[in-house]
Amino acid sequence: MQRTFVMVKPDGVQRGLVGKIINTFEQKGYKIAGLKLMQITRDLAENHYGEHRGKPFFEALVGYITSGPVVAMVLEGKDAVSAARNIMGATNPVQAAPGTVRGDYGIDIGRNVVHGSDSPESAEREINLFFSPEEIIEWQRTVDPWIYE
Ligand code: RTP
Ligand code: MG
Repeated sequence: MQRTFVMVKPDGVQRGLVGKIINTFEQKGYKIAGLKLMQITRDLAENHYGEHRGKPFFEALVGYITSGPVVAMVLEGKDAVSAARNIMGATNPVQAAPGTVRGDYGIDIGRNVVHGSDSPESAEREINLFFSPEEIIEWQRTVDPWIYE
């Protein structure tokens, strides 16, 4: 089992898409291990997107992600990192396949509705950045035998 970090970005929260987006991951079979509404500070944004520091879109990206509350979550399940990226779709929503979150709900690359960790290493880093250990719940889900053989 693997964990990943997923976040509904401020545009997704403002547009009332939180429930739909969480449901997309839930109905696939991923288990919620952590979930909260929060306001990202500039410090946290610059840390989270540190790999993009110096790029032309960095300032706009930090402004975007701190522009309103986000919904941060930890999702757990088999191949959670790559599966969540597939469910989200391509970074640029106009290129994202229909049926993906970005494909269904976005147009602009700077308003692409969701974030998901891009590797298991990023997932661990981002989960530790956004969640304290006691905010992550280990629980048994009774339907698991109907999701995993
Ligand atoms: P994310 O980190 O937000 O999940 O997105 P991603 O992995 O699919 O894409 P990444 O390359 O990490 O870029 C992070 C976010 O920066 C914005 N961006 N704008 N204007 C541009 O060329 C550009 N490129 C990236 C997007 O909001 C992207 O999600
Ligand atoms: Mg990324």
